[in-house]
Amino acid sequence: MLRSSLLYFSEKQSLKHLLTGHSWGQRLAGRFIAGNTLEDAVRVVRTLNAEGFDVTLDCLGESVCAEAETEEACRIYLGILDRVAAEGLRSHVSIKPTQLGLAIDEKLTERHLSALCERAAKVGSFIRIDMESSAYTESTLRVFRQVGAPRERLGVVIQSYLRRSEKDVEELLKFGARIRLVKGAYQEPGHLAFPRKADVDHNFARLTEMLLASGIDHAIATHDDRLIATTKEIARARGVGADRFEFQMLYGIRRQLQRDLLRQGYRVRVYVPYGNQWYAYFMRRLAERPANLFFLLSNLFRD
Ligand code: FDA
Repeated sequence: MLRSSLLYFSEKQSLKHLLTGHSWGQRLAGRFIAGNTLEDAVRVVRTLNAEGFDVTLDCLGESVCAEAETEEACRIYLGILDRVAAEGLRSHVSIKPTQLGLAIDEKLTERHLSALCERAAKVGSFIRIDMESSAYTESTLRVFRQVGAPRERLGVVIQSYLRRSEKDVEELLKFGARIRLVKGAYQEPGHLAFPRKADVDHNFARLTEMLLASGIDHAIATHDDRLIATTKEIARARGVGADRFEFQMLYGIRRQLQRDLLRQGYRVRVYVPYGNQWYAYFMRRLAERPANLFFLLSNLFRD
């Protein structure tokens, strides 16, 4: 109930203005966001790299309706790729397809993504297309295929809560796609997504089996102890070495677990978002764990 309300409000402008317009909103979001600027994010990447983590950088933004804003987003991401290369940082980039115009025109998104892949090839980097709500699943996968970049340059995300995902994974593996597996963070109807957490988790384990059996370097993105243990078991049983897949987790969530996995010899990539368009991302993080809301509010009023 609270989860649905938080996801509902993640798309509402009124609360967005209230939260983002005040410094206390910024402070609340600070737990999950690296800062407002690329400088802030680069500082975080340097620290994480020094600790042994790889990173993927996300300049926050989504649901863009103006073409000019998509051009600007593309320009910003080209700048991130250049900056990461110039500083020798170990970081990929992650991008929301609607930030590159998927809500306006698929061809526009394809054009931007192609430009980004070209730059990624030049600087030896990698772009991950995040997966948004089910309204965009089909078009995101279509754009991914149309761009047709090699798997060292471009990858996509699959959500285990969607009933269609097993079929999508089968199709994607046929042409060697590199996949990040997540549970899924949006509000979806029962005919498209499993309503029960147990089914989402069961499907996550099933899809992990398929990914680890493929011989391709995929990412298992979860903070769930049980699914992390399952992943390790599957890898062990199939003889898949810790260098042949990676765990991914979000900045600010379960840091000790992130460090423990590194210590155990696994590769861990931290998803680091930055920028002032943090509202929807922040609300999804609260929805994943509504207890965060009370924790954050109590900290806020303690000062
Ligand atoms: P689950 O929600 O069951 O959480 C397991 C445990 O982790 C919790 O018990 C808690 O301890 C901790 N935890 C999880 N979320 C927390 C939070 N917000 N605050 C504090 N603790 C928390 N989704 C999507 O739809 N499209 C995408 O492209 C991506 N991309 C993505 C990248 C990466 C690197 C990650 C880790 C996740 C995503 N997601 C995503 C989000 C994903 O779909 C999912 O909503 C979250 O990862 C939470 O699910 P868990 O797998 O962590 O399990």
